Amino acid sequence: MIFYFTGTGNSLYAAKKIGDELGEDLIDITAAMKEKSFSYRLSSNEKIGFVFPVYFYGVPSIVVDFIAELKIEKNLEAGLKPYVFGVMTCGGGMGGTPKMLQELLEKHELPLTAAFELKMASNYIMMYQPTGPDLQKKIRISTDKKLVDIIAAISKNKKEDSGKRKKTLLTSVAYPLYLHGRKTRLFYADEKCNGCGKCTRVCPVSVIQMENDKPVWMAKQCTHCSACINRCPQEAIQYGKKTLKWRRFENPILK
Ligand SMILES: Cc1cc2nc3c(=O)[nH]c(=O)nc-3n(C[C@H](O)[C@H](O)[C@H](O)COP(=O)(O)O)c2cc1C
Repeated sequence: MIFYFTGTGNSLYAAKKIGDELGEDLIDITAAMKEKSFSYRLSSNEKIGFVFPVYFYGVPSIVVDFIAELKIEKNLEAGLKPYVFGVMTCGGGMGGTPKMLQELLEKHELPLTAAFELKMASNYIMMYQPTGPDLQKKIRISTDKKLVDIIAAISKNKKEDSGKRKKTLLTSVAYPLYLHGRKTRLFYADEKCNGCGKCTRVCPVSVIQMENDKPVWMAKQCTHCSACINRCPQEAIQYGKKTLKWRRFENPILK
């Protein structure tokens, strides 16, 4: 079983390739959170995967919340541990994300057997202009090559020394900014908004509601996945002023 979270499709792309090759089912963390589906039963020889984007060199808040609630009935012989892997998609690097995931899983007595970084296009439009089309094509080639290696490693049950995973300085500095930041206050819809309401449907944490045919962000914080702003068909959602001129990013798997 592969638990995945995606804002703009990269992690879905990776999870689907891995799931198809390894014959593992995909479980959408967003849907599971909305339905409060937290209990899963592992069959023998089944692996457990977590595929999600890196946020501020750490684990997105929705994935943290999901793992906190997760209940896995392991159904394994005494003493045997399941094979658990993490694939973290990112624009630049994953920093100490594996260590953070390891600590979240330890609370459930699940080991993180192996963790993989997968560089993909950057979607972080609230901070930078997302990766452009030419670079996206180049990145897709290297992503696909890396995915072949990752799938081979998982199918051979590759193990890592979990003692070597470190909380990096990048994560220690950046991640608290995410936890205390991820504010919705700068999101708004400009005059291009036609009231289609797609933003309300793609928001994984359901904080957007339509009022007078315009989206309104109902909570002070969200998971900051960027789905609302990147996936708006009219490119009408903005985050402050800088996004007015910036391109949007959506992995073609969502189109
Ligand atoms: C809030 C936020 C924070 C991000 N932080 C990082 C980061 O720390 N390091 C990095 O390499 N990429 C970062 N990114 C880029 C995403 O991890 C990357 O584009 C990812 O593949 C998007 O996955 P998705 O399409 O499945 O949502 C960030 C993106 C967002 C929206």
